[in-house]
Amino acid sequence: MSKKALITGITGMDGSHLADFLLKKGYKVYGMIRRSSNINLDNLENIKENITFVNGDMTDQNSLFRCLKDTNPDEIYNLASQSFVGESWNTPEQTSNVTALGVLRILESIREFNPKIKFYQASSSEMFGRMVENPANEKTPFYPRSPYGVSKLYGHWITINYRESYNLFACSGILFNHESERRGIEFVTRKITDGVARIHLGLNKNISLGNIDARRDWGYAPDYVEAMWKILQNDKPTDYVIATGKDYSVKDFLKIAFEVVGISDWNKHVLIDQKFYRPAEVDVLRGDYSKANKELGWEPKTSLEEMIKKMVKSDIKKIKSKL
Ligand code: NAP
Ligand code: GDD
Repeated sequence: MSKKALITGITGMDGSHLADFLLKKGYKVYGMIRRSSNINLDNLENIKENITFVNGDMTDQNSLFRCLKDTNPDEIYNLASQSFVGESWNTPEQTSNVTALGVLRILESIREFNPKIKFYQASSSEMFGRMVENPANEKTPFYPRSPYGVSKLYGHWITINYRESYNLFACSGILFNHESERRGIEFVTRKITDGVARIHLGLNKNISLGNIDARRDWGYAPDYVEAMWKILQNDKPTDYVIATGKDYSVKDFLKIAFEVVGISDWNKHVLIDQKFYRPAEVDVLRGDYSKANKELGWEPKTSLEEMIKKMVKSDIKKIKSKL
């Protein structure tokens, strides 16, 4: 019989790539969606017929319990979150409710309904924040720098605590930044590839950005969802850093993205706007994925250049189709 997986955050970037991946593995996939005036299933366009949707919200304990009861999954991938770091200063309470307490609510539901369910928590490199060790590994102390990072840290520790308290198969993947053609438009990578596509098509002249000296360890989301799955297929529940081990600046990203459309003087098209600066910045993130490599046989497959090319080309295609 095929395994059953419940994905929270299925409409997002990772949720949709994970659904693709699990369907190909023969899973029965359930996706939790929340009530909204305009549910957006764009990322699931090609696979939505193969997914069973259930209604729930990370801020509503009973709805989560019902999702478990109605689906009785073998595995839960908790990807739902208010995931935009910049927004977390505007809505710190809502961010904490979804991103921190939401994890507790699912763990409580698992404990009550079926403690045999395996649980994956989407932890984040934002927990390392002002990195005290570079590259960061699973033992590096945390130093979050945003309400989002603090909320993720709660989700991370409550997952460990429920594993140790109740013997749950509950694990965190500490994923460094990863991107794809489905990345939300507000994140810097997609903002750049969309902007480059518009400049290339003659629709815009510039892209307005904040701190372009920030450095990130950027991987490709389809490679990273494989790691999530591998973490739950392991024989022991534990946590893993998932990263590429290389960091680049936003400036490096800009240079590569503009080169895809043959523009070498990228700085002529970039405006710096203070409104995109953050109250507290994470200057650099870089991860050491050697534990995942050794124990899970996982490694990143897609280079930064390949990924940026895919994203720029996809944005050009998307924009052209709407002209
Ligand atoms: P994303 O595209 O922003 O997707 C977030 C998902 O969460 C969406 O499906 C959203 O649903 C859902 N959601 C938000 N609030 C909810 C609520 N109250 N109840 C139920 N669902 C809710 O994020 P992503 O980039 O795919 O990331 C997936 C997860 O990994 C997130 O937890 C993120 O924090 C974490 N993470 C991401 C990265 C990265 O670089 N991408 C790195 C480390 C960790 P709607 O469509 O209804 O808004
Ligand atoms: N979004 C955005 N917009 N970021 C900008 C801009 C801009 O106009 N200009 C410069 N940046 C800088 C930010 O200040 C930050 O240092 C860096 O670009 C990356 O910003 P984001 O793409 O918004 O990602 P993030 O690193 O803050 O957070 C992402 O990665 C985390 C893992 O480290 C999100 O996916 C989080 O959900 C995830 O946990």
